[in-house]
Amino acid sequence: MGKLAENRYPSVAFTLVLFATLMVLLCMNIAISRVEKSNQQTLSFLTGLADVKGDILFLDAALTDRAVRFVLTRDSYYDKKFRDGARQLDDVLNNLRKSEISLIRRSAISIAESNRKMVEFEERAIALAKKGRQVEAYKILQSEQYRIFKSEYSVGANGLATFIESEIKTTIDESSKKGNWRTLVVTFVMLALVAVWAWFLSIFDVWKRRIEGLNQELDKRVEERTKELDEERQLRLMNAKLAAVGELAANIAHEVNNPLQIISLRAQQVLDIAEETADGGLKSLGDSLVKTTKRLGKITNGLRSLSRDGTSESITNVAVEKFLVDIIEVFEPRFVSQEIHFEKVNRAGEKTVYLRPTQISQVLMNLINNAIDAVARVKSKEIILGADIVPGGVEFFVLDNGSGVSSENESRIMEPFFTTKPFGEGTGLGLSISKDLVDNHRGKITYARKNDMTEFRVFLPQNFKSKGYRLHAEV
Ligand SMILES: Nc1ncnc2c1ncn2[C@@H]1O[C@H](COP(=O)(O)OP(=O)(O)OP(=O)(O)O)[C@@H](O)[C@H]1O
Ligand SMILES: [Mg+2]
Repeated sequence: MGKLAENRYPSVAFTLVLFATLMVLLCMNIAISRVEKSNQQTLSFLTGLADVKGDILFLDAALTDRAVRFVLTRDSYYDKKFRDGARQLDDVLNNLRKSEISLIRRSAISIAESNRKMVEFEERAIALAKKGRQVEAYKILQSEQYRIFKSEYSVGANGLATFIESEIKTTIDESSKKGNWRTLVVTFVMLALVAVWAWFLSIFDVWKRRIEGLNQELDKRVEERTKELDEERQLRLMNAKLAAVGELAANIAHEVNNPLQIISLRAQQVLDIAEETADGGLKSLGDSLVKTTKRLGKITNGLRSLSRDGTSESITNVAVEKFLVDIIEVFEPRFVSQEIHFEKVNRAGEKTVYLRPTQISQVLMNLINNAIDAVARVKSKEIILGADIVPGGVEFFVLDNGSGVSSENESRIMEPFFTTKPFGEGTGLGLSISKDLVDNHRGKITYARKNDMTEFRVFLPQNFKSKGYRLHAEV
């Protein structure tokens, strides 16, 4: 498509320019040939007239000669020849009188006038000769008056000839001037066409580059979008797989739970018998059994919470202060026994917040459990539980002065089953379950290391319960 568009514009333009050139040249040719034709006509007319002077003078001389000969010989042949010549001269002069050039017309009239006077004298001489008065007739043809008419006549003929010659010269000059103009115009038109063509080419170059740029951008966008779609597809597949695995895990956990209860009961019985019989070996066996079944119970419970949609518990408006106090009550004995300095920092005061109480207390308990584990090897152990009012909601936080999460593990702590704790002490489900529960509140759980303290913050949006901010499961 790109290539097609690229090549089409220059070819269209080329055709246009070619067409325009041909049209211009055609018009010029028509105009030039018209001018040339009229010049040619004028020139051939004038060249035709160039011989007229000879004709006029010759015919006049012939008329005089024939009149004289008739007077001397009275031969009717000369009379007839005289009349033929007179007619011929009349024709020539009449033609000149029809000319479009006024000067020629006026010259012809004056020459014809002189001719008329001479012919009158000649006719008179011929008439006298016919009557036998030849001497008288001859005198007329030799008279002063006749000679004056004759010289008037030849002055007129010469003037006409001079005028015609100068007209021919002017026409030739004009024609050559027009020719120069024509060359100038043709050169100018050709130069203009070259300039227009160059301009077109530069425009097409810009178009071409623009189209190339757009093509590249389009290719890039298509590539990006394809990648996005691919990633989305992978994510959907992954989610579907996770959902299936989650459901499977929940089913297994459910199925495992009943036999686990029996094993747990039997383990307790083994421990009771060991105590009754004071059998040390049996007691350690019973202890191990009870510990392992408890761990198994924790794992199955965790798996079941992971796959629950978390919407079964109703949303309640709870007072932040009371909520914190209830949680602390549960942990107080452990804080005391493990010599942990504990502090509550409630900066949210009397604030109330909408949440699912069991779920969020489970989150905070998971965080406090992690904090207790984290400060286990610290000399002066310190844990803080508190709440803040933040833009858009409330933030609970759990701080401890343990060594925190190493940078390579930071991105993995929320993954299910990720744990750094020794076998039997951690399942790696605490944070992933917590994240799931907080996500269900449209909240956010974050980790940070601040002032040598490990900080986990749980943000809960204030308008969680309000219209337009409901959980998808509740809508
Ligand atoms: N306060 C903390 N200080 C340092 N590391 C932490 C803290 N909280 C969590 N972690 C790290 O994150 C890991 C995952 O925590 P999570 O609560 O998901 O699992 P766990 O505590 O290992 O096991 P479980 O909570 O199931 O008993 C922990 O193993 C630990 O490495
Ligand atoms: Mg934990």
